[in-house]
Amino acid sequence: METIARLRLDTFELTLRDIRDVGAEQLHALSVSVGWSHREGDWQTLLDLGGGVAAVDEIERVVGTVMWLRYGADFAMICMLITLPRLQEQGAGRWLMERAHELNGAAAFGLTATRAARRLYRSMGYGYEQKILQCQGQIAPGNRPSCKVEGLVRPVRFDDYESLVRLDHAANGYDRSAVFRRLAPESKGHALVRNDQIVAFALCRRFGRGHVIGPVVAATEDDAIAVSLPHVEAHAGSFLRADTPASNIAFTNFLVASGMQIHDTVTSMGLKRAPFKPVNPEGPRRIALASQALG
Ligand SMILES: CC(C)(COP(=O)(O)OP(=O)(O)OC[C@H]1O[C@@H](n2cnc3c(N)ncnc32)[C@H](O)[C@@H]1OP(=O)(O)O)[C@@H](O)C(=O)NCCC(=O)NCCS
Repeated sequence: METIARLRLDTFELTLRDIRDVGAEQLHALSVSVGWSHREGDWQTLLDLGGGVAAVDEIERVVGTVMWLRYGADFAMICMLITLPRLQEQGAGRWLMERAHELNGAAAFGLTATRAARRLYRSMGYGYEQKILQCQGQIAPGNRPSCKVEGLVRPVRFDDYESLVRLDHAANGYDRSAVFRRLAPESKGHALVRNDQIVAFALCRRFGRGHVIGPVVAATEDDAIAVSLPHVEAHAGSFLRADTPASNIAFTNFLVASGMQIHDTVTSMGLKRAPFKPVNPEGPRRIALASQALG
């Protein structure tokens, strides 16, 4: 085929803007360009909870993003690091991460790394790795895996939220009441009550291609299954997702038996300390993430 003309377009000048100053539809287009299933509403949840920057080119097109959420005074969760595919492997990702560290001044950081980003984070000092399985799929109608329940599983009520925040705090080491306040109105929840106390819970809300089960907090996988099962039953025939640490073998088997598959593997990582550490190793822990971004 005859070449008529050639043009080299590899010099970009990027400017940083506050992420709230760019349109949600531009952010959505960027995450679609890297194959992520986030809806504009999923971006909005993060914009309501955290800060961030967007890199724009000379004509104000968004070509990169990074966000952060503060959990307490000295810890920030970094998320939504994205660079436009045609810009990748030229240093923009590293540059955005450096700005994120610089601009929010937390002492320690956590994030959930995709495979594409893990090497970058390792080279910046992130460690304390924990493998997370992204399970998702169409929930099969019909038979459900059996589950042992000791106690009463009932829907979460509005006045339960303080107990959920306390349980989440014990599981992860942070007060995430802001996250719960934001997710509560759009989530349905089930709690396991034993001796008049909530000992486990699972929330579920719209996210990406369907619904996500998360956060799920429990001291045992049996308890986690007991509170997640009603969500699975409510979504028979539709798309459901849950992100769980790979060490939760029984919980993963339950998700797979329900019709989800292990779609991807990502890595929870921390800088300066292990993120998401239970206060008591025998007590409640995170069985499913609120999302990869929120941890
Ligand atoms: C991950 C991502 C942000 C990296 O952005 P980038 O602009 O390519 O980053 P950089 O050019 O600064 O590269 C950073 C490092 O990662 C390496 N890298 C980039 N893409 C890679 C890939 N696909 N696989 C392995 N390593 C990769 C680079 O070689 C570089 O290493 P070096 O600094 O030692 O040379 C980008 O690939 C992306 O948006 N991916 C899709 C969304 C995503 O997965 N985001 C991460 C969320 S946790």
